[in-house]
Amino acid sequence: MKNLRELSLAGKRVLVRVDFNVPMDDAGAITEDSRITGVIPTIEYISGQGGRVILCSHMGKPKGQRVEKLSLKPVADYLAKLLNKPVAFADDCIGAAVEVKDAALKNGDILLLENLRFHKEETDNDPVFAAQLAKLCDIYVDDAFAAAHRAHASIVGVAALTAEKAPGFLMQKEIDYFNQSMTSPVRPLVALVGGAKVSSKLGALQNMLEKVDRMIIGGAMANTFLKSTGVDVGASKVEDDLQDTARALLAKAASKGVAVFLPVDFVAASAFAADAVTKIVTTKDIPKDWMALDIGPASVLLFKEALQDAKTIVWNGPMGAFEMDAFARGTMALCQAVAASHALSITGGGDSNAAVKKAGEEKNISYMSTGGGAFLELIEGKTLPGLAALA
Ligand code: 3PG
Repeated sequence: MKNLRELSLAGKRVLVRVDFNVPMDDAGAITEDSRITGVIPTIEYISGQGGRVILCSHMGKPKGQRVEKLSLKPVADYLAKLLNKPVAFADDCIGAAVEVKDAALKNGDILLLENLRFHKEETDNDPVFAAQLAKLCDIYVDDAFAAAHRAHASIVGVAALTAEKAPGFLMQKEIDYFNQSMTSPVRPLVALVGGAKVSSKLGALQNMLEKVDRMIIGGAMANTFLKSTGVDVGASKVEDDLQDTARALLAKAASKGVAVFLPVDFVAASAFAADAVTKIVTTKDIPKDWMALDIGPASVLLFKEALQDAKTIVWNGPMGAFEMDAFARGTMALCQAVAASHALSITGGGDSNAAVKKAGEEKNISYMSTGGGAFLELIEGKTLPGLAALA
């Protein structure tokens, strides 16, 4: 894989695949911009070298239709402010009008193309569509780590058609941090895993058990593990069909010498509601019809202890229903523990990153991945098509 710094960019049209799939409110204002700020070094570098930057991205899932509220125009305006420099916008991503704009670019100029997914050929990885995109550039740079698990036209199709290609700086940083944390970690390596479902993280749990020294499991997924060991978790969310799987994972951990930490107490609630009646109970004393919505204070102590001498921490998924303040204490406490540790700490996924922000600890986490699904697939041990395409 080539490094972006090895390419001669002056006067070249450089198509940069970014992931500007950012959350917006109803008024079209961007509410979280880390995927935009994350690619600024790449954009500034290419532009500064005299390259002509053509940015392309998806936004949402318009399924091949033009959906105005999924237009990238607001992102072009937002980016222009961040860069303090004009960002031209093309209201399509392929076709004659775009080619005219592309040809008119001067060295250092920046152009953002309209949402790639307004054409269904993007997600179909259609070769003709890929060729139309490839026509717009001399060099292809992929800085869309968060979309690297998608084998789409702008990710694998264009890469195959372009001889000169490289990962952008954000992509490179994501790969480097992943390698430092999971491929060649300084040990002990501790995984902190949470979230609602074992089913959505099965592959990640399985692969991590091959690599980590300890695994801390919180969130609703812990209920499934606890129930599989015979604990009555009341009306808590459980995946009953995964009892055997959970038991097998615990057995695998034991056979590999991986210590697994499960909650020993909960913040239990009478209902899934911010104003529900709550009490702290041991995992064995959850009242019938009550549900566990956060880990309790003894679990926080136990989990912090398990993190204490970690040299590397990989965190994915909250410890409870942290979006409600009544059930945020466990996640916040763990977040502070990760932030205070001397370990290399990596978080990924929308919920974990939102929790870090809620705790105001962004600056104290070594790296917050911009990937959700892509981060998870890396942890699952899969090869991401976007990375394979750059090889
Ligand atoms: C994401 O938000 O995880 C990426 O932008 C990928 O989006 P997708 O799941 O719609 O492909």
